[in-house]
Amino acid sequence: MLASAAVLALVGAAAASPMAVVPNYPPTMQSTGFRLVVNVTDKARDFTPSIQNLYINTIHVGAGLNQVGLGTKDNNPSIWYQNGTAADSRFGASTLITDQGTPLSPYGLSLVKNEGSATLSTARADGGLGTKGVAISHFPEGYRYLVPETYVVCNESLAYYQGTHFLVLEQAATTVSSTGQIEKNIPEGCAPVRLLPECATLESLPAGSYSSHEFAIDTDCYPDVASINWSLYGP
Ligand SMILES: *[C@@H]1O[C@H](CO)[C@@H](O)[C@H](O)[C@H]1NC(C)=O
Ligand SMILES: *[C@@H]1O[C@H](CO)[C@@H](O)[C@H](O)[C@H]1NC(C)=O
Ligand SMILES: *[C@@H]1O[C@H](CO)[C@@H](O)[C@H](O)[C@H]1NC(C)=O
Ligand SMILES: *[C@@H]1O[C@H](CO)[C@@H](O)[C@H](O)[C@H]1NC(C)=O
Repeated sequence: MLASAAVLALVGAAAASPMAVVPNYPPTMQSTGFRLVVNVTDKARDFTPSIQNLYINTIHVGAGLNQVGLGTKDNNPSIWYQNGTAADSRFGASTLITDQGTPLSPYGLSLVKNEGSATLSTARADGGLGTKGVAISHFPEGYRYLVPETYVVCNESLAYYQGTHFLVLEQAATTVSSTGQIEKNIPEGCAPVRLLPECATLESLPAGSYSSHEFAIDTDCYPDVASINWSLYGP
């Protein structure tokens, strides 16, 4: 009886081991500068052509004003850095910045509430401060991506371009309904995405710049997002 119990236990262990979930995540490096790469998290809501692995850039919509859009790697993707002290980073008070203009000046990523929506905000990269807490996730989270989630890409007409349509970045806040249901609030026609940091060189600033890299934070980033085989990683 004892022997068969031991055998049964062994069989059980052998059967269980392929099921055991060992967390495993793509390797990262560290850099102050990074680009943001689009990872579509619901393929059924992707655009045609696909926006998978496109890069985040900015769309000029006035003097010192930008919305946030998408382009290829050759299409001037923005280089970002996280700005703040170690304490800012730890307490969700750092911001995400890209340098633009002459002299180079900080353009912070901000989330601006859409009129008439309780949950949607439009991503902007206007000259000046960014929204505190827009940051790259860190340990103990296994993956590196921009928070707060959920970012969405939507097809919208921009008045500055006489109504021409652009794919723009917005953010949908998650809510909990009165019955305890978690609502992602992804708008119809928009693709939910994760924005992954891909390591890039943060160039040193020319003399006379208004930007400063003194508080640029060393950030975990992926060397080459497009080459990651997601099926090898998780949970
Ligand atoms: C990227 O998207 C794929 C599905 O297309 C998913 O398996 C993977 O977990 C996503 N990566 C991250 C970091 O969320
Ligand atoms: C960058 O962070 C430092 C330290 O918190 C802060 O003094 C500075 O104003 C920040 N710069 C921008 C452009 O937000
Ligand atoms: C965005 O919408 C416009 C107008 O409906 C359409 O012409 C265009 O093809 C759409 N763009 C994408 C990428 O789906
Ligand atoms: C990704 O990994 C899976 C599982 O090992 C493998 O079957 C698949 O061929 C890989 N895909 C690519 C594009 O390498």
